[in-house]
Amino acid sequence: MPALCNRPIASPDSLPRRAALPVLALLAALLGACSQPQQGDPEARASRIEPVAKISLKVQKVAPGSRTGEQVYQGTCAGCHAAGALGAPKTGDAAAWAPRIAQGFDTLTKNAINGIRQMPPRGGGADLTDTEVQRAVAYLANSGGAKFAEPPVAK
Ligand code: HEC
Repeated sequence: MPALCNRPIASPDSLPRRAALPVLALLAALLGACSQPQQGDPEARASRIEPVAKISLKVQKVAPGSRTGEQVYQGTCAGCHAAGALGAPKTGDAAAWAPRIAQGFDTLTKNAINGIRQMPPRGGGADLTDTEVQRAVAYLANSGGAKFAEPPVAK
């Protein structure tokens, strides 16, 4: 092994203090520069992050369990029911919904929760509560002529 490797590492005490001072000053200046963009007018800063803040507020408003039928419909059910994909009864199509509605609200809800043929359980919305599915079923069936009462969202 070369003799160089065996040399003891210089201890802090043996470093010339006068050399260390300018280095520290330079470091402080650099760190100061890094934090510059975060300073300044708080208003301007708030407006820069505004769009992101708005989005997260929206998400918080519709916490799981408290989504309305329309919100659940738009988020989960419309994907198939708006266009009638996979043979789904189309939103607002009274002829397609009449025989479904005739089964009654409870059967429709049960089938929507458990899934039926091409429709996956809860329409694929695994985090939907039973009540949220109920609300969406009411919203969807009512678009096709039913008069089901959508379970209210607790305030
Ligand atoms: C992946 C596509 C898809 C999604 C998403 C979907 N559905 Fe469906 N849905 C279907 C299909 C297909 C049928 C028809 C099933 C059949 O009877 O063959 C159906 C049927 C239904 C029926 C009638 C059930 C019956 O007993 O006749 C209800 C009610 C329903 N869906 C509610 C919903 C609700 C509420 C959502 C959202 C939470 C949803 N669906 C999301 C595909 C979907």
